[in-house]
Amino acid sequence: MLVLGIETSCDETGVALYDTEAGLLAHQLHTQMAMHARYGGVVPELASRDHIRRAIPLMEACLAEAGRTLKDLDAVAYTRGPGLGGALLVGASVANALAFGLGIPVVGVHHLEGHLLSPLLADPKPDFPFVALLVSGGHTQLMAVHGIGQYEILGETLDDAAGEAFDKTAKLLGLPYPGGPMLSRLAEEGDPQRFTLPRPMLHADSLDMSFSGLKTAVLTLVTQTQATLGEIDETTRKDICRAFQEAIVEVLVTKSLKALRQTGMKRLVVAGGVGANKQLRAGLDTAAARRGLEVFYPPLSLCTDNGAMIAYAGAMRLSQRSPAGSFGVAPRWDLT
Ligand code: KG4
Ligand code: ZN
Repeated sequence: MLVLGIETSCDETGVALYDTEAGLLAHQLHTQMAMHARYGGVVPELASRDHIRRAIPLMEACLAEAGRTLKDLDAVAYTRGPGLGGALLVGASVANALAFGLGIPVVGVHHLEGHLLSPLLADPKPDFPFVALLVSGGHTQLMAVHGIGQYEILGETLDDAAGEAFDKTAKLLGLPYPGGPMLSRLAEEGDPQRFTLPRPMLHADSLDMSFSGLKTAVLTLVTQTQATLGEIDETTRKDICRAFQEAIVEVLVTKSLKALRQTGMKRLVVAGGVGANKQLRAGLDTAAARRGLEVFYPPLSLCTDNGAMIAYAGAMRLSQRSPAGSFGVAPRWDLT
């Protein structure tokens, strides 16, 4: 079965072709980051308009890359939600029009299910069951994944998502949008010993997390440092980035290990944009190796939003004969 996947939930237009026999055949992405940068965040109306411009050319590029034509498609999958309403509608319209015109099935996929299953596009891929650490710009959750569509939330952030904390802290430190990846690059050159920030809810019994206090702690640290040093110099900025990253990584690693212990599962899957963070990967790998546990990641290029994960999740849903509804979008939609 050859499935075309279309992702338009936020500021990335992603289109991909996944074949259930041959695997991922093509994967094209256009990021709108540069367009939104001057506004310091995603402007929904601009996002929708750009998805309209990009979706069809990206689809054509995918078909050319894979040496296929529209007639070869067996199904179309699109991101039904959650995300920006207008942006989602672009993907939903393109997908439904294509499927209607070609007389093939269309399936609306949950964006987080796409992220959650993206490590299954890697080689080697994890077997079920596994614990998933989903760390994106909008969500931070630990889940027990028993199979396709069988998801159980073990814990989640009570306020900001991990990616959101990265982005807000980056903004506070004067870094340009989108701040998360840049903050993490600066952190790599920072001194981990110079500042220590709190680890919110680290020792709480539950698997829930909280990151908004960390951002406030950075603000306090910045204010105190400015009071003693004057303007924050480059070295100090890197050291603060490092202190922030140390704190957030320790919380995510500790909670992931706790989730594995609680469920008795031996495999951890990491998905979502923050899964691209090198220090998080190193921390999880080291902790897991010591305990004989395995950690799986999506290929680095599929950590952030993309069409491949939507094509894959759609293919899995269709092979289970459980399409997630007909034409429509769901800007707010819980996975479990
Ligand atoms: O999964 P994603 O592309 O979009 C959502 O579904 O939210 O994740 C985007 C988030 C942003 O908050 C971004 O700052 C963060 O992932 N991110 C990172 C890194 N790369 C992306 N955060 C920390 N370190 C990174 N290397
Ligand atoms: Zn995402």
